[in-house]
Amino acid sequence: MAVRVLADNQPETLLSIENIVKKFGDNTVLNDISLQVHKGEVIVIIGPSGCGKSTLLRCINALEPIQGGQIKLNGQTIDPNGKDLTELRQKVGMVFQSYDLFPHLSVIDNILLAPCKVQKRDRAQVKEEALALLARVGLQDKAESFPRELSGGQKQRVAIVRALCMHPEVLLFDEVTAALDPEMVREVLDVVLQLAAQGRTMLIVTHEMQFAKAIADRIIFLDGGKILEDAPPEQFFNHPQTERAQQFLNIFEFEVVKPHPAPQA
Ligand SMILES: Nc1ncnc2c1ncn2[C@@H]1O[C@H](COP(=O)(O)OP(=O)(O)OP(=O)(O)O)[C@@H](O)[C@H]1O
Ligand SMILES: [Mg+2]
Repeated sequence: MAVRVLADNQPETLLSIENIVKKFGDNTVLNDISLQVHKGEVIVIIGPSGCGKSTLLRCINALEPIQGGQIKLNGQTIDPNGKDLTELRQKVGMVFQSYDLFPHLSVIDNILLAPCKVQKRDRAQVKEEALALLARVGLQDKAESFPRELSGGQKQRVAIVRALCMHPEVLLFDEVTAALDPEMVREVLDVVLQLAAQGRTMLIVTHEMQFAKAIADRIIFLDGGKILEDAPPEQFFNHPQTERAQQFLNIFEFEVVKPHPAPQA
């Protein structure tokens, strides 16, 4: 939410997506897409099902090879065919809809696994940080619990803490609330809002339009393999430039916005 600027007042580019092309066989999913993400910026990617939102995030994290163009993080080209993607994956944190916690490990062991095994950081230090982060997301008493003992919203908050403990430079969120019951959606979105307020750089795929409006510095509307709109939320939601975006937004017009539950006395 607070875009970092260089001395000459230019925003500092963290992630540069340049003319990327992604195909699955004959199906061109991303067709010459370019996007600059600045440090501290929150970008929300929206678009109809199957338009390539998840694929775009997976390309950024080098989970998918691309057929054209390039992606750079801090000026360094991300090579999905590169031998050692470990370093990249540490800089790019990703949280999915399905949490992907290891069922046989406790919450704290899930979180400590990569920082200790991959980054070889001091276990006691990471644990202290992890416990502080768990407390921040309201899970201070769940460190020793196992994933099966947690609600969906709690599991998702653990997954976010796990990503944060790697100290990533950019966070990718792919529909992190899609699998949650409505009452758990807000608790997870609140955590993501907190991260935005802290100045984290994030790319967020979501179908929660109110949330998108509240959190985004820029909305990217993807359809037909192209970025059709790239605009601040007020502009995108109030004055979409393309007919496709207008049609898409009409579907959400009747979206019910639940009031925040009153705090218990
Ligand atoms: N591994 C794969 N092999 C072949 N085609 C794929 C693969 N993954 C995705 N696709 C295709 O790529 C297109 C984009 O898929 P993607 O999952 O990125 O869409 P999306 O925008 O995330 O959709 P949703 O909103 O439903 O999650 C779809 O046509 C999909 O069928
Ligand atoms: Mg998807």
